[in-house]
Amino acid sequence: MLVFSKIISVQQEIASLKNGTTIGFVPTMGALHEGHLSLVERAKKENDIVVVSIFVNPTQFDNADDLINYPKTIDKDLALLESSYCDIVFTPTPQEIYNNDIQSQSYDFDGLELQMEGKFRDGHFNGVGTIVERLFEIVKPSKAYFGEKDFQQIQIVRKMVEKRNLPVKIIACPIHREKDGLAMSSRNVRLTKEQRAAAPFIYKTLKKAKAKFGIKNASEVVKWVGNEFKNHPLFNLEYFEIADEDTLLSVETKNPTKKYRAFIAVFAGKIRLIDNISL
Ligand code: PAJ
Repeated sequence: MLVFSKIISVQQEIASLKNGTTIGFVPTMGALHEGHLSLVERAKKENDIVVVSIFVNPTQFDNADDLINYPKTIDKDLALLESSYCDIVFTPTPQEIYNNDIQSQSYDFDGLELQMEGKFRDGHFNGVGTIVERLFEIVKPSKAYFGEKDFQQIQIVRKMVEKRNLPVKIIACPIHREKDGLAMSSRNVRLTKEQRAAAPFIYKTLKKAKAKFGIKNASEVVKWVGNEFKNHPLFNLEYFEIADEDTLLSVETKNPTKKYRAFIAVFAGKIRLIDNISL
């Protein structure tokens, strides 16, 4: 496994590959877990080589504390990648990516950026668009792998690829969960013992909401979820929405020809957890 922190070095390595070599790319912010590794494994199945980037992208954080406290475990990450299917790791510094101008470009994602995470995390998707486009430019992948854990992010990246006509195929991979159902996330290590023990409540609530939708209208399910969290001693609900997978707009009733998902964001103290479920 090769590790590069300079753009020029990773580009030279990629340029030296035999013509026609397919590159599967997995962008990450590190603090890697099995969810990330499942993307690496999938990428290796479908490509000749796998490139993973580790870069905690400052421009997608709307909250300075969250950026400072984002777990950074580079040695452990490299060890995990070494024993996975990764061929090349790219670990740039903010300076390398942004020079001295740590700013996002402004994107129009046809309104996808105005829903859910976009409503609550100001500028987040401009930051994601900026870094993902930049990384695509550097790595030039044939296919790029993203987790459905961040479903809205996948739709945003797909929209960017479509609008900018980028030569990369976006592959969506299923959510990897802990045995007790909690969606794996780099932020889970920041939960207290008590919060971690209670956290499966989030996915359990999503599963119950799924069972209710179809029998009940979305607004009734939204109200029910709100009540479930109202008196919870450890979690504060930020949003729960049932939305169309393509437009991400909230819906009220189920139309059998469309695909829906329920999306949730919850605070455990200062730690923000998200999850979603296909309905
Ligand atoms: P990060 O949160 O590190 O996630 C990297 C990739 O791993 C994303 O595509 C994310 O959806 C996926 N992932 C995270 N947890 C997962 C899980 N439990 N199961 C399956 N996939 C999971 O998402 C980002 O980084 C950043 O926004 C990035 C795309 C790297 C741009 O900075």
